[in-house]
Amino acid sequence: MGVDHVSLRPVVEDDLETLERFTNEPEAVGVFNWLGWSDPHRWRRRWAENGFFDDEGGRLLVVHGAERLGFVSWRRVMTARTSHCWNLGIALLPEARGRGFGTRAQRLLVEYLFAHTQMVRVEAVTEATNIAEQRALEKAGFTREGALRGYAFRNGRWRDAVIYSVLRDEVELPD
Ligand SMILES: CC(C)(COP(=O)(O)OP(=O)(O)OC[C@H]1O[C@@H](n2cnc3c(N)ncnc32)[C@H](O)[C@@H]1OP(=O)(O)O)[C@@H](O)C(=O)NCCC(=O)NCCS
Repeated sequence: MGVDHVSLRPVVEDDLETLERFTNEPEAVGVFNWLGWSDPHRWRRRWAENGFFDDEGGRLLVVHGAERLGFVSWRRVMTARTSHCWNLGIALLPEARGRGFGTRAQRLLVEYLFAHTQMVRVEAVTEATNIAEQRALEKAGFTREGALRGYAFRNGRWRDAVIYSVLRDEVELPD
């Protein structure tokens, strides 16, 4: 089974244990997303509240057949007083990385967001040294826009980041 069998679906209760790995296991989170311990109950609480969907964003599980790979997420970002875009996020479990799944999952999320919301821009920000995510974004159709200096604090230092985007007109949606 290859990347064609990757899909996105809403989180069900049985998935919560997998998602909890992203707060309880630093190794599962990965160096770029590990920002210290945080409330391990938030997954269950938010899932019970709204299944991880509201007007400000959402979260979908990434699966490969029956295998749970991680999640993708999106949140609304204000770009001007009357304008917004989506900001995309992704985290795959260590065993799921480097198999083309991150590229495919982000492409699927972009298609989903342009199909089901009227937003024109999807952006993504990643640390300047996160080469896997930069390559995955490029392969998923994103364009690198520029550098963000001293952008995010992680593990004792402020880190530079890069910002990418893909626009509605750049994505052909199936009819
Ligand atoms: C970042 C992430 C989503 C990328 O997804 P992935 O499935 O691992 O990446 P892919 O297999 O689709 O590979 C994409 C490209 O990155 C390259 N790549 C993969 N892992 C790499 C690594 N550790 N270092 C450098 N390049 C890497 C691949 O070779 C491929 O490029 P190529 O086709 O030119 O060879 C995934 O690794 C992940 O979830 N990491 C931990 C969390 C994280 O960093 N999230 C993003 C935070 S903004």
